[in-house]
Amino acid sequence: MSTILVTGGAGFIGSHTCVELLDSGYDVVVIDNLMNSSKESLKRVEKITGKKVRFYEADIADRAAMTKILEENDIYGVIHFAGLKAVGESVEKPLEYYKNNISGTLEMCDVMRKHGVKNIIFSSSATVYGEPAQMPITEKCPKGQCTNPYGWTKSMLEQILTDIQKADSEWNVILLRYFNPIGAHKSGLIGEDPNGIPNNLMPYITKVATGQLPRVNVFGNDYPTPDGTGVRDYIHVVDLARGHVNAIKKLEENPGVKVYNLGTGKGYSVLEVIENFSKACGKEIPYVITDRRAGDIAECYADASLAKKELNWEAKYGIKEMCEDSWNWQKNNPNGYR
Ligand code: NAD
Ligand code: UFG
Repeated sequence: MSTILVTGGAGFIGSHTCVELLDSGYDVVVIDNLMNSSKESLKRVEKITGKKVRFYEADIADRAAMTKILEENDIYGVIHFAGLKAVGESVEKPLEYYKNNISGTLEMCDVMRKHGVKNIIFSSSATVYGEPAQMPITEKCPKGQCTNPYGWTKSMLEQILTDIQKADSEWNVILLRYFNPIGAHKSGLIGEDPNGIPNNLMPYITKVATGQLPRVNVFGNDYPTPDGTGVRDYIHVVDLARGHVNAIKKLEENPGVKVYNLGTGKGYSVLEVIENFSKACGKEIPYVITDRRAGDIAECYADASLAKKELNWEAKYGIKEMCEDSWNWQKNNPNGYR
């Protein structure tokens, strides 16, 4: 029960999850093709925990590599982070997104099945709710129309994994729908390291704080929200990572298919995030109001009570720590892992 395969483990959420798993006594094996990350993150994971990560640099679609991993290690379950995740890029490159995320997962699951490894925790997203039918969003809220191919890969993979379990009850599938992960490990050694100009709010703000970008573009202030800017449920990545450790414990109950929102239940507007970040870094963050971004919704925050009840998990950190820890990572690593 003690060895977990983490796909995409060198990435932002994966590296933080490796830390929490190792700190909780699990052995960790990582497969990552490093298409959006660096091996350095895993060295830092080892530094933080004082424990070893067994790393395979390979693609999840590489059947020979997956077979080797499952033959060389006694894997209890897979936490599946590997995937492409840039919303805008997915609109430009749908084929690459469907191929990497969907074909990759199908190949991986087939190899898992052949080796009798039938426990999987999947990184899904609040994006599967589309334009949410209710706020806060519960897991009972129907899935909606996604606005981009990335979102559809999450929605489709949820369905695929559910169908696999339906056909073979030996599988256990936990679908974790993340809200907006930000923050970084307290050590400042690991954090989010996007390539190029960030698409997401927090990494954009941190680059403005270091002077690498001039100002934040606030995408619209005419939404039906208290200050007119978009509201999201930001969650500290360490809380999110802890949620995965609790989900592993849930797998041990053979739960079949389960779906959980991982969020704090509290929403913050873009202007509130900027204000909190300014306090954390001790300087004004310049911003300008621009047009809305296509595909954005006004607000999105979780009802996280099911995860509390069934996973015995809830977020511990608030927006203050999220901003402080994002800043601590960025100021110590202005160029990320490079
Ligand atoms: P990330 O890009 O930092 O991590 C993903 C990792 O997967 C990277 O290290 C990348 O190199 C690797 N990878 C991608 N395709 C691969 C493949 N075919 N084979 C092997 N490795 C591959 O992203 P993240 O923010 O850590 O996100 C992790 C997961 O959580 C993703 O599936 C993402 O879609 C999902 N998610 C993220 C967010 C978010 O806002 N960060 C929100 C909801 C869901
Ligand atoms: N925003 C700005 N300026 C920016 C970037 C973002 O004003 O430069 C605003 C957005 O309009 C939105 C909020 O900040 O109101 C958050 O935007 P992000 O891009 O950080 O996050 P999203 O909520 O759009 O999407 C993220 C991930 C998706 C995931 C979703 C739900 O990018 O992959 O959270 O988990 F699906």
